[in-house]
Amino acid sequence: MNFTGKTFWITGAASGMGKALCAELAKQNVRLIISDRNEEGLKATAKIVEATGSSARIEVLDMSDTTSIMQTASKVLNDGEKIAGLYQFAGISQRSLVTETPLENDRKIMEINFFGVVALCKAILPHMIENGGGQLVATSSLVGKFGFPYRSAYASSKHALFGFFESLVAENKSNNIKVSILIPGRVQTNISKFALKKDGSEYGKIDPGQANGISAEKAAKLILKGLKKEKKEIWVGGSEMLMLHIRRFFPPLYYYMAPRLKPM
Ligand SMILES: NC(=O)c1ccc[n+]([C@@H]2O[C@H](COP(=O)([O-])OP(=O)(O)OC[C@H]3O[C@@H](n4cnc5c(N)ncnc54)[C@H](OP(=O)(O)O)[C@@H]3O)[C@@H](O)[C@H]2O)c1
Repeated sequence: MNFTGKTFWITGAASGMGKALCAELAKQNVRLIISDRNEEGLKATAKIVEATGSSARIEVLDMSDTTSIMQTASKVLNDGEKIAGLYQFAGISQRSLVTETPLENDRKIMEINFFGVVALCKAILPHMIENGGGQLVATSSLVGKFGFPYRSAYASSKHALFGFFESLVAENKSNNIKVSILIPGRVQTNISKFALKKDGSEYGKIDPGQANGISAEKAAKLILKGLKKEKKEIWVGGSEMLMLHIRRFFPPLYYYMAPRLKPM
């Protein structure tokens, strides 16, 4: 993938990895359409992008509102934007046990982390096919590969992304559609702060897991490197990524470890 001169739509662009990737991509002279629910955060990201000479178009978007996603996508396409890549980072996490999590929380997390991602992807995919191809990026997680305590809905939403995007790419080989699925481990962002507790309120803390993770800037560099190579999976983290090997090659060890893992 050669980024220069192309247009990329990034969700979750107001903070964390989405914002850091915008800053990295901007160095390649690109046009960015940046989306998030947080308008002030988007304005700050746009400043960073524009300081490099790249351009930024802000589209405030709530990923839990499918109607608004479809309307925004139509508006962007009707304006003649030619999207080479749709990189989706927006997401929320969870801090609650299965036994205490009301179904409405499971639905809310699936709505943002899965259905929102699918809706925006479906709105843009026909345009990419018409234009001869494109690159789709979904942000899963280590817990998109295995279960983890206090993350039942979150892990489900991140597993579901694999099913959707692996099917999509199998259907669209001849349409030159590339898919990269990001697998972050622990990255220093606000993801735990806005995680849903059992009562639906925000957890409000940065967990030691995230605090001791790699920086969002380092994550963005790893992601960009993987995207350049059009890697199907991009692993983003430190020693915690070892869990992927344990789950895959030593399942009994994973089943021993899982109930003992520190969830916060
Ligand atoms: N950090 C990690 O350790 C880690 C590990 C595995 C996977 N991930 C995944 O990485 C992705 C990026 O997260 P991050 O770590 O960079 O955390 P982050 O800084 O919290 O970024 C997530 C972004 O998504 C936005 N968002 C949340 N709900 C939204 C909604 N309904 N509509 C639109 N935007 C919404 C947030 O907006 P606000 O600014 O308003 O909150 C925030 O800007 C997420 O999908 C997350 O699940 C992160």
